[in-house]
Amino acid sequence: KRHLLSTADLSREDALLILDTAEELAEVSGRSIKKLPTLRGRTVVNLFFEDSTRTRISFEAAAKRLSADVINFSAKGSSVSKGESLKDTALTLQAMGADAVVVRHGASGAPHRLAAWVDGSVVNAGDGTHEHPTQALLDAFTMRRRLGDLDGRRVTIVGDVLHSRVARSNVHLLHTLGAEVTLVAPPTLLPVSMGDWPCEVSYDFDAVLPKSDAVMMLRVQHERMNASYFPSAREYSRRYGLDPERMARMPVGAIVMHPGPMNRGMEIAAEVADGERSTIVEQVTNGVTVRMAVLYLLLSGSEPAIGGNQ
Ligand code: CP
Repeated sequence: KRHLLSTADLSREDALLILDTAEELAEVSGRSIKKLPTLRGRTVVNLFFEDSTRTRISFEAAAKRLSADVINFSAKGSSVSKGESLKDTALTLQAMGADAVVVRHGASGAPHRLAAWVDGSVVNAGDGTHEHPTQALLDAFTMRRRLGDLDGRRVTIVGDVLHSRVARSNVHLLHTLGAEVTLVAPPTLLPVSMGDWPCEVSYDFDAVLPKSDAVMMLRVQHERMNASYFPSAREYSRRYGLDPERMARMPVGAIVMHPGPMNRGMEIAAEVADGERSTIVEQVTNGVTVRMAVLYLLLSGSEPAIGGNQ
């Protein structure tokens, strides 16, 4: 039984296998082959306890392009609102024969718990402030396409690191792939303990920009924020926002990334988000391809599930 729960425990070999498989799938899609029969008969369940636009839709598109059946479960409108637990929800899906469960949950570690309860593969689609491995993989895929081999590349990740599962997953994966990562954030928006984070930290965005091959802006997560430790929006934008003037400090050829959704005018100016150096739309397109690769590698070759009680 195989899962994708975090990038911290993803080997370099496995990470490269996912990226190279995604490259092959992109090449097939480029030949106008929209659908592959590879996962016919398999069932992928999207189990979302938190809101999502990009991740949920791209997992659905990815599974359908591989001919899998897709069940979309959203906690809103389900028996979760009557108090049903994650475990009972998982066992219900298990009984319906899920071969893979793609889960987003507000609690860090929820996908790991789920993996112990279901027979199928579990893919972490974002757990609390912990990890979002497929986001990091699609980011690495996008960087590799734009910048080439990531070995020795310098990536700067900026903003609300404290609440960011995207930052943690990227730091671990980029380190595994040989890139040098620098985090830039107000001190109040960094985790208290970063002992196992293989990266540098800086508080001076302007000083780091000329040494960056890619600058990844993070969303300010107001919904997880305690107002007491957030600088004013104006102060935040002034010190940590990316506007055209600041972007001019970046080397020629350096790219601007954002996982979305964006707070335009807060962490990133609209002109930058929509500008030539931005890979934001490309990241979304690449998200489908990378998620196809993940589902393909986890499920092809496995026997289809036929329901837990049979
Ligand atoms: N980047 C990302 O995870 O976006 P969604 O929350 O829309 O899925």
